[in-house]
Amino acid sequence: MSSIQPKDRIVVALDVETPAQALALVEKLRGLVGMFKIGKQLFTAAGPDIVRQIVGSGERVFLDLKFHDIPNTVASAGVEAARLGVSIFNVHALGGSAMMRATVDAINAAAERENFTKPIILAVTILTSHDQSSLHEIGLERSIQEQVIRLAQLANSVGIDGVVASPLEIAPLRASIENPNFVILTPGVRPAGAALNDQKRVMTPGDAVKAGADYLVIGRPITGAENPAAAAQKISEEIEQAVA
Ligand code: C5P
Repeated sequence: MSSIQPKDRIVVALDVETPAQALALVEKLRGLVGMFKIGKQLFTAAGPDIVRQIVGSGERVFLDLKFHDIPNTVASAGVEAARLGVSIFNVHALGGSAMMRATVDAINAAAERENFTKPIILAVTILTSHDQSSLHEIGLERSIQEQVIRLAQLANSVGIDGVVASPLEIAPLRASIENPNFVILTPGVRPAGAALNDQKRVMTPGDAVKAGADYLVIGRPITGAENPAAAAQKISEEIEQAVA
C-alpha cells in the first residue's frame, strides 16, 4: 500500500457546468482533499482557464480528457496539459503503444527543457460502460478482465505511470503488473450507506485502498452532500481507519 495521506487520496470530480460552481466547491474543500478532477464537461464549458485558476490557487488537478488520437497529437496535447500545471492527465490505452510512448517521451523532454514537474500519466483501459457484448460489437473478443490487464501491461511497458481502474479491477491488476509503483486511480467509490447514483459495482473508500488503489475519484457523495467538507472529512477518516 502506498504511503499517501488519506485525504490526499481523494480526487473530487468537478462534474459541474460553470467555473463559478467549480470554484465554489474548491473553496469548500480546500485542504480537505488531495486533488480536483476536471473532465470533458467542465473543460468544454470553461476551457483551460479553469485549470489555471484552480492550479493557481494552490490545488492539484487531474485533467480527465482521455486523449486518443495519432501519437504526435496526443503527445502535443499532453505537453499542453503539463504546461497548465496539472498533476495527472490520461490517455486511452487503446490508442496503442506508439501513442503512449510518444506521450511519455514528449513529457520527459518538455519537463527537462521547460523545468516543470512531470505529471502522472494514466491510461484508461476499457471503459466501465462496456460489457462483453459491446466489446464484441467493436471486435474485441477477449474477456473484459483479460483485455483490461493486457492494456495495463502494455501501458506499463512503455512507461505510462498507471491506470484508471474500476474497484473490481484493482486486485487483478496488482496481481499481474509487476511494477510496485504502478498507480491505480479508482472511480466508482461509495462510502458505506451512500447513494449509489448510477454506479453499479462499487467499493467503499477503505476497501478500495486496501485492495491497492492509490487515488479514489469521488463525485456526488461529496459534491452533492449538504456539507461537502464534512463528507470529505468523513471519507478521509474512513480511509484512515481502514488502513490503520
Ligand atoms: O459522482 P461519482 O462519484 O459517481 O463520480 C465519479 C466520477 O468518476 C465521474 O466523473 C465519472 O465520470 C468518473 N468515472 C466513473 N467510472 C469510470 C470512469 C470514470 O465514474 N469507470
